Amino acid sequence: MSNISLIGFMGAGKTAVANKLATVLRRELVSIDDVIVDRERRSINEIFLKEGEAYFRSIEKKVIDEICHRDDLVIDCGGGAVIDQDNLHRLKENGVVIYLKASPVIIYDRIKNDGHRPLLRVDDPRAKIQELLVLREPFYSRADTVVVTDDKSLDDVTGEILSFIKARDYS
Ligand code: S3P
Repeated sequence: MSNISLIGFMGAGKTAVANKLATVLRRELVSIDDVIVDRERRSINEIFLKEGEAYFRSIEKKVIDEICHRDDLVIDCGGGAVIDQDNLHRLKENGVVIYLKASPVIIYDRIKNDGHRPLLRVDDPRAKIQELLVLREPFYSRADTVVVTDDKSLDDVTGEILSFIKARDYS
């Protein structure tokens, strides 16, 4: 059976929703970021700091390439993963890709106090969120479906995804 991949900006709720979906569907959960951290034996922040973003993206691409050949997974993708079109293509080839969409204000509110997002460790994170969202929206919107997460509970978002999967017979 095919995989369910969650994409979208940092703070959109991918990790919480992926956990819940995996539990409800009794599927294995794979977080691409966690695989990278395990493999590199250092944090995402450290990888960005010491090696730069291009290095991180190359590892991310390798990990996606390996993981997407497996079946029955819920895949939690980092927020920049599908800017590389090969990654999106691979995830779509073996499953459904769901874009969790949140507005910039909500994103900022959810992530303002957490320091583990290297791309937002800047003077003006609000402006950076806006800028990246504009750049990334065209990529995110190539997902098979979009679920807005603003002001919705975890159960609501999960429920919407489960309905979509059922209708498309992905379960
Ligand atoms: C990134 C998002 C992060 C992580 C890395 C880069 C991005 O994942 O992969 O910091 O480019 O948006 P989350 O979306 O899970 O925070």
